[in-house]
Amino acid sequence: MTSPKRSILITGCSRGGVGNALALEFAAHGMRVFATARSTASLSTLEDKGIETFALDVINAVSIAALRDEIVKRTGGKLDMLFNNASTILSRLPFAFSAAYNASKAAVASYSDTLRIELDPLGIKVVTVFMGEVATNLMLSDNISFGSGSIYIDAEERVKERSRNHAKNSVKPEVFAKQIVEEVVVKNPRYGQGKYLWKGSNAALIWFLNAVGWRKVFDSTVKKLVGFD
Ligand SMILES: NC(=O)c1ccc[n+]([C@@H]2O[C@H](COP(=O)([O-])OP(=O)(O)OC[C@H]3O[C@@H](n4cnc5c(N)ncnc54)[C@H](OP(=O)(O)O)[C@@H]3O)[C@@H](O)[C@H]2O)c1
Repeated sequence: MTSPKRSILITGCSRGGVGNALALEFAAHGMRVFATARSTASLSTLEDKGIETFALDVINAVSIAALRDEIVKRTGGKLDMLFNNASTILSRLPFAFSAAYNASKAAVASYSDTLRIELDPLGIKVVTVFMGEVATNLMLSDNISFGSGSIYIDAEERVKERSRNHAKNSVKPEVFAKQIVEEVVVKNPRYGQGKYLWKGSNAALIWFLNAVGWRKVFDSTVKKLVGFD
Protein backbone atom coordinates (compact mmCIF):
# COMPACT_ATOMS: atom_id res chain seq x y z
CA MET A 1 0.00 0.00 0.00
CA THR A 2 1.25 3.53 -0.74
CA SER A 3 2.15 6.07 1.97
CA PRO A 4 2.75 9.85 2.13
CA LYS A 5 6.18 9.25 3.76
CA ARG A 6 9.38 9.59 1.73
CA SER A 7 10.69 6.10 0.97
CA ILE A 8 14.14 4.52 0.85
CA LEU A 9 15.37 1.08 -0.23
CA ILE A 10 18.59 -0.08 1.46
CA THR A 11 20.70 -3.09 0.47
CA GLY A 12 22.75 -5.25 2.88
CA CYS A 13 20.81 -4.66 6.12
CA SER A 14 21.79 -7.77 8.13
CA ARG A 15 22.02 -7.53 11.91
CA GLY A 16 25.20 -5.85 13.22
CA GLY A 17 26.07 -4.15 9.94
CA VAL A 18 25.96 -0.62 8.59
CA GLY A 19 22.81 -1.19 6.50
CA ASN A 20 20.91 -2.32 9.59
CA ALA A 21 21.88 0.85 11.49
CA LEU A 22 21.01 3.01 8.48
CA ALA A 23 17.55 1.38 8.22
CA LEU A 24 16.81 2.24 11.86
CA GLU A 25 18.14 5.79 11.53
CA PHE A 26 16.23 6.62 8.32
CA ALA A 27 13.07 5.19 9.93
CA ALA A 28 13.71 7.33 13.04
CA HIS A 29 13.67 10.35 10.70
CA GLY A 30 10.15 9.50 9.55
CA MET A 31 11.02 7.71 6.31
CA ARG A 32 9.38 4.55 5.00
CA VAL A 33 12.25 2.04 4.87
CA PHE A 34 12.49 -1.05 2.66
CA ALA A 35 15.37 -3.08 4.14
CA THR A 36 16.93 -6.00 2.25
CA ALA A 37 19.54 -8.76 2.59
CA ARG A 38 19.94 -12.14 0.95
CA SER A 39 17.96 -13.75 3.76
CA THR A 40 15.14 -12.07 5.66
CA ALA A 41 16.10 -14.09 8.77
CA SER A 42 18.89 -11.56 9.39
CA LEU A 43 16.36 -8.71 9.23
CA SER A 44 13.96 -9.83 11.98
CA THR A 45 14.98 -7.07 14.45
CA LEU A 46 14.08 -4.46 11.82
CA GLU A 47 10.72 -6.10 11.15
CA ASP A 48 9.98 -5.82 14.88
CA LYS A 49 10.40 -2.04 14.50
CA GLY A 50 7.87 -1.83 11.66
CA ILE A 51 10.41 -1.70 8.83
CA GLU A 52 9.38 -3.57 5.67
CA THR A 53 11.90 -6.32 4.90
CA PHE A 54 12.63 -8.30 1.73
CA ALA A 55 15.10 -10.84 0.38
CA LEU A 56 17.37 -9.41 -2.31
CA ASP A 57 20.50 -10.83 -3.89
CA VAL A 58 22.07 -7.91 -5.75
CA ILE A 59 23.91 -10.18 -8.18
CA ASN A 60 20.78 -12.11 -9.19
CA ALA A 61 18.68 -10.48 -11.95
CA VAL A 62 15.57 -12.53 -11.07
CA SER A 63 15.78 -11.44 -7.43
CA ILE A 64 16.23 -7.78 -8.47
CA ALA A 65 13.26 -7.87 -10.88
CA ALA A 66 10.99 -9.51 -8.26
CA LEU A 67 11.86 -6.83 -5.68
CA ARG A 68 11.41 -4.03 -8.22
CA ASP A 69 7.86 -5.27 -8.95
CA GLU A 70 7.06 -5.48 -5.25
CA ILE A 71 8.39 -1.96 -4.55
CA VAL A 72 6.46 -0.54 -7.51
CA LYS A 73 3.33 -2.15 -6.07
CA ARG A 74 3.97 -0.72 -2.60
CA THR A 75 4.99 2.81 -3.64
CA GLY A 76 2.84 3.31 -6.71
CA GLY A 77 6.06 3.45 -8.72
CA LYS A 78 7.73 6.24 -6.76
CA LEU A 79 10.76 5.36 -4.65
CA ASP A 80 12.52 8.46 -3.27
CA MET A 81 15.97 7.02 -2.46
CA LEU A 82 18.11 3.93 -3.09
CA PHE A 83 21.00 3.35 -0.69
CA ASN A 84 23.37 0.95 -2.42
CA ASN A 85 25.31 -0.06 0.69
CA ALA A 86 28.68 -0.81 -1.03
CA SER A 87 31.13 2.14 -1.13
CA THR A 88 34.42 2.36 0.55
CA ILE A 89 37.54 4.43 0.91
CA LEU A 90 39.49 1.29 0.02
CA SER A 91 38.72 2.23 -3.57
CA ARG A 92 41.25 5.04 -2.90
CA LEU A 93 44.11 3.35 -1.02
CA PRO A 94 46.08 0.11 -1.47
CA PHE A 95 44.99 -1.78 1.69
CA ALA A 96 47.06 -4.99 1.53
CA PHE A 97 45.56 -8.49 1.12
CA SER A 98 42.24 -7.18 -0.17
CA ALA A 99 43.12 -6.36 -3.78
CA ALA A 100 40.02 -7.98 -5.30
CA TYR A 101 37.76 -6.30 -2.72
CA ASN A 102 39.39 -2.89 -3.30
CA ALA A 103 39.05 -3.31 -7.07
CA SER A 104 35.36 -4.19 -6.85
CA LYS A 105 34.76 -1.13 -4.65
CA ALA A 106 36.67 1.12 -7.05
CA ALA A 107 34.37 -0.13 -9.80
CA VAL A 108 31.29 0.67 -7.72
CA ALA A 109 32.63 4.16 -6.92
CA SER A 110 33.29 4.83 -10.60
CA TYR A 111 29.86 3.45 -11.52
CA SER A 112 28.17 5.79 -9.00
CA ASP A 113 30.15 8.78 -10.17
CA THR A 114 29.18 8.19 -13.79
CA LEU A 115 25.52 7.60 -12.89
CA ARG A 116 25.67 11.02 -11.19
CA ILE A 117 26.07 12.51 -14.68
CA GLU A 118 23.81 10.12 -16.59
CA LEU A 119 20.86 10.35 -14.19
CA ASP A 120 20.98 14.11 -13.68
CA PRO A 121 18.73 14.92 -16.68
CA LEU A 122 16.12 12.59 -15.14
CA GLY A 123 16.19 14.57 -11.89
CA ILE A 124 17.87 11.73 -9.98
CA LYS A 125 20.74 12.83 -7.71
CA VAL A 126 23.60 10.44 -6.88
CA VAL A 127 25.64 10.78 -3.69
CA THR A 128 28.77 8.60 -3.42
CA VAL A 129 29.75 7.66 0.13
CA PHE A 130 33.44 6.90 0.74
CA MET A 131 33.01 4.89 3.93
CA GLY A 132 35.86 4.84 6.41
CA GLU A 133 36.24 2.13 9.02
CA VAL A 134 33.09 1.07 10.88
CA ALA A 135 33.07 -1.59 13.60
CA THR A 136 31.00 -4.43 12.08
CA ASN A 137 31.58 -8.14 11.58
CA LEU A 138 32.97 -7.53 8.09
CA MET A 139 36.64 -7.76 9.15
CA LEU A 140 36.36 -10.40 11.89
CA SER A 141 39.79 -11.90 12.53
CA ASP A 142 38.18 -15.37 12.78
CA ASN A 143 37.59 -15.19 9.01
CA ILE A 144 41.32 -14.88 8.25
CA SER A 145 43.29 -17.96 7.30
CA PHE A 146 46.21 -17.82 4.87
CA GLY A 147 46.68 -21.60 4.84
CA SER A 148 49.87 -23.32 6.01
CA GLY A 149 51.39 -23.39 2.50
CA SER A 150 51.03 -19.64 1.93
CA ILE A 151 54.17 -17.65 1.14
CA TYR A 152 52.62 -14.89 3.26
CA ILE A 153 52.10 -17.06 6.35
CA ASP A 154 54.45 -14.84 8.41
CA ALA A 155 52.09 -11.90 7.85
CA GLU A 156 48.97 -13.73 9.04
CA GLU A 157 49.17 -12.72 12.70
CA ARG A 158 49.67 -9.04 11.82
CA VAL A 159 46.66 -9.14 9.48
CA LYS A 160 44.56 -10.64 12.28
CA GLU A 161 45.79 -7.93 14.62
CA ARG A 162 44.84 -5.32 12.00
CA SER A 163 41.29 -6.70 12.06
CA ARG A 164 41.12 -6.79 15.85
CA ASN A 165 42.22 -3.14 16.00
CA HIS A 166 39.65 -2.26 13.35
CA ALA A 167 36.86 -3.71 15.52
CA LYS A 168 38.21 -1.99 18.65
CA ASN A 169 38.96 1.49 17.28
CA SER A 170 36.39 2.17 14.56
CA VAL A 171 33.22 4.18 14.86
CA LYS A 172 30.08 2.16 15.71
CA PRO A 173 27.52 1.55 12.91
CA GLU A 174 24.88 3.58 14.79
CA VAL A 175 27.16 6.63 14.90
CA PHE A 176 28.08 6.30 11.23
CA ALA A 177 24.37 5.97 10.32
CA LYS A 178 23.54 9.16 12.24
CA GLN A 179 26.25 11.07 10.34
CA ILE A 180 24.95 9.89 6.96
CA VAL A 181 21.28 10.52 7.69
CA GLU A 182 22.13 13.96 9.05
CA GLU A 183 23.78 14.77 5.70
CA VAL A 184 21.22 13.35 3.29
CA VAL A 185 17.96 13.97 5.14
CA VAL A 186 18.51 16.86 7.52
CA LYS A 187 21.19 19.15 6.06
CA ASN A 188 20.90 18.67 2.31
CA PRO A 189 17.66 16.94 1.34
CA ARG A 190 18.00 17.77 -2.38
CA TYR A 191 21.74 17.52 -3.00
CA GLY A 192 21.98 19.75 -6.09
CA GLN A 193 24.16 18.06 -8.68
CA GLY A 194 25.08 15.13 -6.45
CA LYS A 195 27.86 14.93 -3.91
CA TYR A 196 30.59 12.89 -2.21
CA LEU A 197 30.56 12.06 1.49
CA TRP A 198 33.63 10.86 3.41
CA LYS A 199 32.43 9.43 6.73
CA GLY A 200 33.59 6.79 9.22
CA SER A 201 36.91 6.39 11.06
CA ASN A 202 39.90 7.89 9.20
CA ALA A 203 37.75 8.91 6.22
CA ALA A 204 38.51 12.64 6.54
CA LEU A 205 42.26 11.98 6.78
CA ILE A 206 42.20 9.70 3.72
CA TRP A 207 40.20 12.31 1.79
CA PHE A 208 42.83 14.92 2.68
CA LEU A 209 45.79 12.72 1.72
CA ASN A 210 44.10 11.76 -1.56
CA ALA A 211 43.61 15.44 -2.30
CA VAL A 212 47.08 16.75 -1.48
CA GLY A 213 49.36 13.73 -1.02
CA TRP A 214 51.67 12.07 -3.49
CA ARG A 215 50.61 8.75 -5.12
CA LYS A 216 52.50 6.54 -2.64
CA VAL A 217 51.50 8.47 0.48
CA PHE A 218 49.76 5.44 2.02
CA ASP A 219 52.51 2.87 1.35
CA SER A 220 54.41 2.94 4.63
CA THR A 221 51.20 2.73 6.71
CA VAL A 222 49.60 -0.12 4.78
CA LYS A 223 52.91 -2.05 4.78
CA LYS A 224 53.39 -1.57 8.51
CA LEU A 225 49.86 -2.84 9.19
CA VAL A 226 50.75 -6.27 7.74
CA GLY A 227 54.36 -6.45 8.91
CA PHE A 228 56.02 -5.64 5.57
CA ASP A 229 58.12 -3.00 7.32
N1 LIG B 1 32.81 -2.07 8.00
C1 LIG B 1 33.68 -1.29 7.39
O1 LIG B 1 34.70 -0.87 7.98
C2 LIG B 1 33.44 -0.86 5.97
C3 LIG B 1 34.24 0.16 5.46
C4 LIG B 1 34.04 0.60 4.18
C5 LIG B 1 33.04 0.03 3.42
N2 LIG B 1 32.29 -0.99 3.91
C6 LIG B 1 31.25 -1.54 3.02
O2 LIG B 1 30.00 -1.25 3.60
C7 LIG B 1 29.05 -2.24 3.25
C8 LIG B 1 28.41 -2.79 4.51
O3 LIG B 1 29.41 -3.46 5.24
P1 LIG B 1 29.28 -3.90 6.77
O4 LIG B 1 30.53 -3.49 7.43
O5 LIG B 1 27.97 -3.47 7.31
O6 LIG B 1 29.38 -5.47 6.63
P2 LIG B 1 28.33 -6.65 6.86
O7 LIG B 1 27.73 -6.51 8.22
O8 LIG B 1 29.05 -7.89 6.51
O9 LIG B 1 27.21 -6.33 5.80
C9 LIG B 1 27.29 -6.73 4.47
C10 LIG B 1 25.87 -6.82 3.97
O10 LIG B 1 25.89 -7.08 2.57
C11 LIG B 1 24.94 -8.10 2.31
N3 LIG B 1 25.28 -8.83 1.09
C12 LIG B 1 26.41 -9.51 0.79
N4 LIG B 1 26.32 -10.04 -0.44
C13 LIG B 1 25.10 -9.69 -0.92
C14 LIG B 1 24.41 -9.94 -2.13
N5 LIG B 1 24.94 -10.66 -3.11
N6 LIG B 1 23.17 -9.43 -2.28
C15 LIG B 1 22.60 -8.69 -1.30
N7 LIG B 1 23.19 -8.40 -0.12
C16 LIG B 1 24.43 -8.92 0.06
C17 LIG B 1 25.00 -8.97 3.54
O11 LIG B 1 23.79 -9.68 3.64
P3 LIG B 1 23.70 -11.26 3.90
O12 LIG B 1 23.16 -11.39 5.27
O13 LIG B 1 22.77 -11.66 2.84
O14 LIG B 1 25.09 -11.84 3.76
C18 LIG B 1 25.09 -7.92 4.63
O15 LIG B 1 23.82 -7.44 4.98
C19 LIG B 1 29.82 -3.31 2.46
O16 LIG B 1 29.64 -3.06 1.07
C20 LIG B 1 31.27 -3.04 2.86
O17 LIG B 1 32.16 -3.46 1.87
C21 LIG B 1 32.45 -1.42 5.18
